Amino acid sequence: MVKILVAGFKGRMGHTTVEMVLNHPGFELVGVYDPHSIEKNLNEINEFSELDVPAYHQLSDIATGKVEVWIDFTSPKAVFENVKFALEHHISPVVGTTGLKDEQVAQLQRIAKKNQVGGLIAPNFGISAVLLMQFAKQAAKYLPDVEIIEMHHDKKLDAPSGTALNTAKMIAEIRSEHYQGNPDETEVLPGARGANFQGMRIHSVRLPGYVAHEQVLFGGPGEALTIRQDSFDRSSFMSGVAVAVSKIGKQHELLVGLENLL
Ligand SMILES: NC(=O)c1ccc[n+]([C@@H]2O[C@H](COP(=O)([O-])OP(=O)(O)OC[C@H]3O[C@@H](n4cnc5c(N)ncnc54)[C@H](O)[C@@H]3O)[C@@H](O)[C@H]2O)c1
Repeated sequence: MVKILVAGFKGRMGHTTVEMVLNHPGFELVGVYDPHSIEKNLNEINEFSELDVPAYHQLSDIATGKVEVWIDFTSPKAVFENVKFALEHHISPVVGTTGLKDEQVAQLQRIAKKNQVGGLIAPNFGISAVLLMQFAKQAAKYLPDVEIIEMHHDKKLDAPSGTALNTAKMIAEIRSEHYQGNPDETEVLPGARGANFQGMRIHSVRLPGYVAHEQVLFGGPGEALTIRQDSFDRSSFMSGVAVAVSKIGKQHELLVGLENLL
C-alpha cells in the first residue's frame, strides 16, 4: 500500500483525488492538507464519515514519517513551498498544480537530487493532453507556423495554462524561433494577438462550463491542421495520477511530464 497525503483536498481536483485514492486498492490515504479547511479529520465531511484521516492546516503539523507520496493540487502561490517541504522530508511529490516558474522547477530538481527523492510535475495528467503535446511536436516539424488556444473554467488562476505552455516548449525543441503574422500588424486592442512564446501565439479563454481544453492550430501554404483535446470531467486526470503514484517510488529525480512515466 502506498501511503498518500493529498494537498489541496478542499479544492476541485483535490476532492476528486481523495475519492480516487480511497477507491484504489493499492493506495492508503494517511493525511489531507489544506490551510483553508476547518476540519481536523476527513470524517467531519459527511461523505467520508466512516474514515479516520487527519486533516492538516499547516505544514509543520504534518506527520511526515507516515507519508510516502504527496499529491499536490493546490495553487500557483503554494506549490513551490509544498513540493520543497515534501522533498526535504523524503516524500515523493506528484504535482498537478500549474504555475511553477522554470527557475523554481530547477531549484526543486536540485533539492530532489540532493535528497535522492523521486517526483513528478505533470502540467496535465490526461492521456489526451499528453498525446496532443506529442502529436503537436511531430506536426511542427512540417508545419512550423502554429498558434495555441486553451480553454478553461473561469476559476482558473494562471494563464496561459501549464499544458499550453508545455505544448509551446515541446514545439520549440524542434521549431526555430520566428515571427508569425504580418510584421507590420498593429493590435487595435492590446492583447488581441495573444501571448508570445518564441513567436508562437497563445490565447487563453476563460468561461463557465468549461473544464480543460486545448487546440493547436498549424497553418501552411494552402492547408491547415488542428489538433484538439477535451477534458470534460476531472476524473479523466485520475488514471494519470494513479500511474504516477504507483511508479514514482522507483525514481530518484524530479521529472517533468507524465510521458516520462508512461
Ligand atoms: N495537472 C493536471 O492534470 C491538472 C488538471 C486540472 C487542474 N490542475 C491544476 O491543479 C491546481 C488546482 O486546481 P483546482 O481546480 O482544484 O483549484 P481549486 O481552487 O479548486 O483548489 C485549490 C485548493 O488548494 C488549496 N490551497 C491553497 N493554498 C494551499 C496550500 N498552501 N497548501 C495546500 N492547499 C492549498 C485551496 O484552499 C483550495 O482548496 C491548479 O493549479 C490547476 O491548474 C492540473
